[in-house]
Amino acid sequence: MLKINLNINYKDYSVEIDEDMRLIDVLRDVLGLTGTKEGCGEGECGACTVIMDGKAVCSCLVMAFQADGSRIITIEGLSNEEDLHPIQKAFLDEGAVQCGFCTPGMIMSAKALLDENPNPSRQEIREAISGNLCRCTGYNKIVDAIEKASAYLLKEGK
Ligand code: FES
Ligand code: FES
Repeated sequence: MLKINLNINYKDYSVEIDEDMRLIDVLRDVLGLTGTKEGCGEGECGACTVIMDGKAVCSCLVMAFQADGSRIITIEGLSNEEDLHPIQKAFLDEGAVQCGFCTPGMIMSAKALLDENPNPSRQEIREAISGNLCRCTGYNKIVDAIEKASAYLLKEGK
């Protein structure tokens, strides 16, 4: 067993891990943050995307010990208790969610993009979500939603 320290969704955690645990295992199985999904487990689908030290990463590809000392944001860290985050609201408004399995990862990739580039082009949005697979939507509504989220965030000055 190893002990690691993480800041997840603005709270500090000290967690005991096995050496072979991945970040997604810590999030889902140790801390119960099951909003982060596991699809392929091999870095191909993006369902497990979280933001680690400001960058979107596949949490199935990060060993837990590599995350020691990191700041992580998961889908649970976006909304406050009462209101949806503007990106979540935009996904609902645009009908960009069908089965929903890809949605947490899509939203985290969108957040990483919009944090860095508040007013992206459609091409930049497509590139930012190029590692996130969706079997249901055909992607256009997701791109529409991220454009709308950008407008919401700019309007709110966030
Ligand atoms: S579960 Fe991590 S990329 Fe698919
Ligand atoms: S909404 Fe079903 S996989 Fe994207």
